Amino acid sequence: MNKIIRNGTIVTASETYQADLLIKDGKIAMIGSSLNEDGAEEIDAKGCYVFPGGIDPHTHLEMPFGGTVTKDDFETGTIAAAFGGTTSIIDFCLTEKGKPLADAVKTWHAKSKDKSVIDYSFHLMISEINDSVLKELPEIIKNEGITSFKVFMAYKNVFQSDDETLYRTLLAAKELGALVMVHAENGDVIEYLTKDALSKGKTEPIYHALTRPPEVEGEATGRAAQLTGLANSQLYVVHVSCKEAADKIAEARKKGYDIYGETCPQYLVLDQSYLEKPNFEGAKYVWSPPLREKWNQDALWNALRIGELQTIGSDQCSFDFRGQKDLGRDDFTKIPNGGPMIEDRFSILFSEGVVKGRISLNQFVDVTSTRSAKLFGLFPNKGSIAVGADADIVIFDPEIKRTLSASTHHMAVDYNAFEGMEVTGEPISVLVRGDYVIKNKQFVGTPGSGHYMKRAKYGQFSQKTDKTITIQ
Ligand code: URP
Ligand code: ZN
Ligand code: ZN
Repeated sequence: MNKIIRNGTIVTASETYQADLLIKDGKIAMIGSSLNEDGAEEIDAKGCYVFPGGIDPHTHLEMPFGGTVTKDDFETGTIAAAFGGTTSIIDFCLTEKGKPLADAVKTWHAKSKDKSVIDYSFHLMISEINDSVLKELPEIIKNEGITSFKVFMAYKNVFQSDDETLYRTLLAAKELGALVMVHAENGDVIEYLTKDALSKGKTEPIYHALTRPPEVEGEATGRAAQLTGLANSQLYVVHVSCKEAADKIAEARKKGYDIYGETCPQYLVLDQSYLEKPNFEGAKYVWSPPLREKWNQDALWNALRIGELQTIGSDQCSFDFRGQKDLGRDDFTKIPNGGPMIEDRFSILFSEGVVKGRISLNQFVDVTSTRSAKLFGLFPNKGSIAVGADADIVIFDPEIKRTLSASTHHMAVDYNAFEGMEVTGEPISVLVRGDYVIKNKQFVGTPGSGHYMKRAKYGQFSQKTDKTITIQ
């Protein structure tokens, strides 16, 4: 059904203005005043912001990891995402050495197809580079529209790749028009530090953080950046947690390298002391890279504000406290790494970022939506409010105060990492391609209604060649 959203304040990455918005056939058909369309549903957005739907570029739904599988799948995870104001996600498709990449993509399609309530796409993990991988990559790009590859520099003997693989992936991406993503931590050094800690009887959750210090993240980030420069390629560093890593990205960008950095809400508002919570509760905060000393938060906010970091991902990777996190009760290395973040990403950034004056309203839209659309080949269809774009819209009340809690969240896990945190602002209604998924804070979507998004090649809307679209 066509819709007119009236009386709201439209916010994009560059503008804030009062206007009505006509949605026709799932697209934004017109923006203006006193719009009329026979039979259109009228939506009153008085007092609300009208944002482009959030784009979460970093999720792990139904992912096998740490001897178990993440609790949220494409149904529960995307419903929670929608409640939180996210209308598109890009999930990580894991591959296995020696097996066709296409098989892995098929597996991820099977996980998501009849479940997702919002639009979705995949990044492709690269664990090895050989003739058959090099032959398959152009087909994957052409057939699947997967234009971002992920290389892990950590998780030794699980996901970790060597530097040759990273370098050759950077070369291939340059040639094919893809963006390389890295999990930047030095996995070899972490392996040594964790064995050393365990040999001394240090088994509690806090040792997860102490055996992955900021230096191992800074070192890997700097190494990946240098290799990107050498390959004259492009790089996106996921989940930047500390000043050491953010500084390496800024340094490389100053040299003119095509490098971007993502941080996550957890690194902006939580700190290392959470891993010291008694009764094993610290395990709830075990993910990689780990939470850092609190002073890093200012450095990350500042990097976002001045554009040295560009996006916010959730790194959603949820495990129950009881039954999953407690696999590591006697050994922190057995605690599945990851946390439930998909639902609160957007609101935490608004409340802690905009309301507290750390980033502007337009920067909020840029980091939670527009920049990811540009980097990952979704713009201008996604990531903006403009005529012709998909009507992925969040009607957001900026005044509501509420408390984040597992008792009210929609993720499938038994705890919330931000339990008790008061935030200002809440998505009231969320539309994907013009259809309500959340209407007046109620879920009204349909599992399977989310569309798989084939993405454009890297570069069209990256920072170096930024283009604007015309609003008619
Ligand atoms: O601990 C985390 N971040 N789990 C998800 C996998 C990853 O490294 O992104
Ligand atoms: Zn990672
Ligand atoms: Zn991740």
